[in-house]
Amino acid sequence: MSSHNEPQLGRRRFLKTTTGLAVAMALPTQALAADDLVHLERHGNAPDERFWRKVQKEFVLAKRTTYMNIGTTGSMPRVVLDGFDTNNTIVARDPWAMEGKFGGFANVGNMIDAIAPGFGADSHEIVLSRNTTDGICSIIGGLQFESGDVVLTTHHEHVGLTSPLYVASQRYGVEVVELEIPVDTGDNSVTEEDYIRVFADAVALYGSRVRLIAFSHITYKTGTVLPAKRICKEVAVANGIPSLVDGAHGIGMLDLNFHDMDCDFYAGPGHKWQCGPGATGILYVRDEAKRLKEFWWDRSEPLHLINSSLAPAAMGICQRMQYIGNDHFPAKQALTDSCLMWDTIGRDRIETRVRELGSRCKRKLAQAFPNVKIYSPDVEGLNCGLTSVNPFDDQTDGELLLAFRDRLREEYGYIIRTTDFRLRKDDVVPTYALRISTHLFHSEQDVDGLVSAMRKLYREMA
Ligand SMILES: Cc1ncc(COP(=O)(O)O)c(C=O)c1O
Repeated sequence: MSSHNEPQLGRRRFLKTTTGLAVAMALPTQALAADDLVHLERHGNAPDERFWRKVQKEFVLAKRTTYMNIGTTGSMPRVVLDGFDTNNTIVARDPWAMEGKFGGFANVGNMIDAIAPGFGADSHEIVLSRNTTDGICSIIGGLQFESGDVVLTTHHEHVGLTSPLYVASQRYGVEVVELEIPVDTGDNSVTEEDYIRVFADAVALYGSRVRLIAFSHITYKTGTVLPAKRICKEVAVANGIPSLVDGAHGIGMLDLNFHDMDCDFYAGPGHKWQCGPGATGILYVRDEAKRLKEFWWDRSEPLHLINSSLAPAAMGICQRMQYIGNDHFPAKQALTDSCLMWDTIGRDRIETRVRELGSRCKRKLAQAFPNVKIYSPDVEGLNCGLTSVNPFDDQTDGELLLAFRDRLREEYGYIIRTTDFRLRKDDVVPTYALRISTHLFHSEQDVDGLVSAMRKLYREMA
C-alpha cells in the first residue's frame, strides 16, 4: 500500500484525471456539517448586537479574563476545537488509514478546494503552510537572487520577513532597502498616498535592480493597514516587480481577495485572526508563479521549491510545495473548518465588525487619556483591529509598559502585549507602546471595560 503522502493523489482536480478507483478512494473529507453553522448565517436585518453575542458564545476563552492579544495568536472556536479533538483521536486510534477521514490516500486537496474561494483564489494557488514565517521563507529562500539585486521593504517589518531577507543579503549580495514609512502619532493625518509614494519613489531611484517588493499588509508594530492592492498594482505590477505580502494580520481579519489585490505571494497564519490551530498557515502563490517568469525573464529558474519533497515532479507549484513530508491532517482540517465558519458569518461582516471595534478602542483611548499617543491610524482603509498606544509621558520607558501590561492582566484580567519600534528609521532609542487586539468575539463592553481599567491603573502608575 502507498504512503499517506502519495504524491500523485495530491488534489481532487488531479484525482479526476486518474482512475475511477482512485477518485472513489479520495472522497472529500468531512468538514463541519452545515447544521453546525446554520445559526451563524446572515438573516435579514437581525440586530447586530444579538448576532455578535451569539458569535461570542462560540468561543471557549476563559471567562475571568478578556483575551486581547490575537495579534500573537487566536483561539479556536468551540465547534472547530471539537472537530480537532475528534480527528486527533481518530489519528491516534488508526494512524495508518485514519478511518478514511482524510480520504483513502490522505491529502488536503479537498480542504484547499473548500477554502480557496473565501480568499478570492483558485485551488491551485493555495498551500496550507505551517505559519506566516514558513510561507515567507519558502518564497524568499527559493527566489533566484543575484548579487546587486534590490529588495524593497519597510522599517516596520517582523523578523519573520527580515530574517530570510538577511539570509538573501548574506548569501547572494542582495541589497535590502528598508524604506521609512510614515507613522501616525494620533492626529490621523496619514493617507494611502503617503505609503504608495514611499514605494514609488524607491522604484524610481533603484530602477531595474528592484527584484521584489516585500511588506506587511498590516504592520504588527502599529496596526497600520498598508494599501496593499494599490502598492501591488500601481507600483509592483506597473513596473514588472513581484510582490510578497506578509499577511500575518490580514488572514481572518480582513475580507481578502488575492486576485483583486494582484500580489504575487501572500503569506499568512491560520492561528492568529483566523483562529485555527497552532502551526497552520496559508500561502498564496499567484497563478503557478507564471508572472514571476515574465518579470524575471532573465533568470532561468526564478523560484526554486526549497520547501518541498517533490521539487522535480511534473505537478503544479503549489501541489509540490504542499508536500513536505508527513502532514497534520486534523490541524489542517480544523483550519479549514474555521475558514468555513468565517465564510458562513461573512468575511466582509467580520472585517467591518473588527474595524468598528478597533475604531471604538482608539476613540475611547483618546477621550480617556488626553495626552495619549496612539500610533494606529483611525483613518478609513488604514485602520484595523490592532491598536498601539502609550498613555505615559515618556514614550521610551519599555519597563514601565511591561509592568503596566502585567498589572492590567493580573489585577483587571485584560490580556494585551507591548510592542517597540523606531518612529523614524534612524531613531537610536525605540518607542514603546501597548498593543491591543479586538476581534469578532469582543463586544463594545469589552473595549470600554479595557479602557476604564487602563485609566484606573494609569492613575496609580503615572
Ligand atoms: C507581521 C508579522 N509577520 C510575521 C509574523 C510571524 O507569524 P507566524 O507565527 O505565523 O509565523 C508575525 C507574528 O506575530 C507578525 O506579526
